[in-house]
Amino acid sequence: MIKSIGPKKLKTSVFISGNGSNLKSLIRFSKTKGSPINIIFVISNNKKAKGLFFSKKKNIETKTYSFKKSNIAEIRILKDLRKRRVNLICLAGFMKILSKNFIKRFKGKIINIHPSLLPKYKGLNTHERVIYNKEKYSGCTVHLVNSKLDSGKIIMQKKVKLRKNENSKKLAKRILKEEHILYPKAIRKLVSNL
Ligand code: GRF
Repeated sequence: MIKSIGPKKLKTSVFISGNGSNLKSLIRFSKTKGSPINIIFVISNNKKAKGLFFSKKKNIETKTYSFKKSNIAEIRILKDLRKRRVNLICLAGFMKILSKNFIKRFKGKIINIHPSLLPKYKGLNTHERVIYNKEKYSGCTVHLVNSKLDSGKIIMQKKVKLRKNENSKKLAKRILKEEHILYPKAIRKLVSNL
């Protein structure tokens, strides 16, 4: 678990691969009064990730790592995180699976947001599967990351009711809006439980 932080903010690194709308919401949150996090380092596996624009614009240190050899990427990332004394990692649309060893090094300090009501619909294409199965509800979940995909302890969830004949694109959009609210709330909860 994350150690007591006292009056200090958690030095946070956000990992992204794509659009980075959650990164944007987390940056906004980090700048609000009394926020428990300070985003000091943004990491991507994809140098074309649109989200990198937001961190660069806010002058947050931003670095891309090639995952052609993921073990080497992880060694480099771990070294850089240690150097910067990062004590919270927020995965936000990060499309690479971190190794057991990596997770062990940051046990209880890596969280993720997933666009379903876990434990239902782990993995990809959640909205398509939710609609195919004619579910009444879906939503999003913030959870601790452990070595099994989308399976760590749940911190917070938000339920979203499906609309009649809603397609996956529209549902994704509505859930993403909720993600932007849920992720900061879940971080507050995590930190207040320390
Ligand atoms: C979000 O739906 C998140 O739940 C999932 O990937 C998507 C990332 O979106 N893990 P964005 O890059 O934050 O806009």
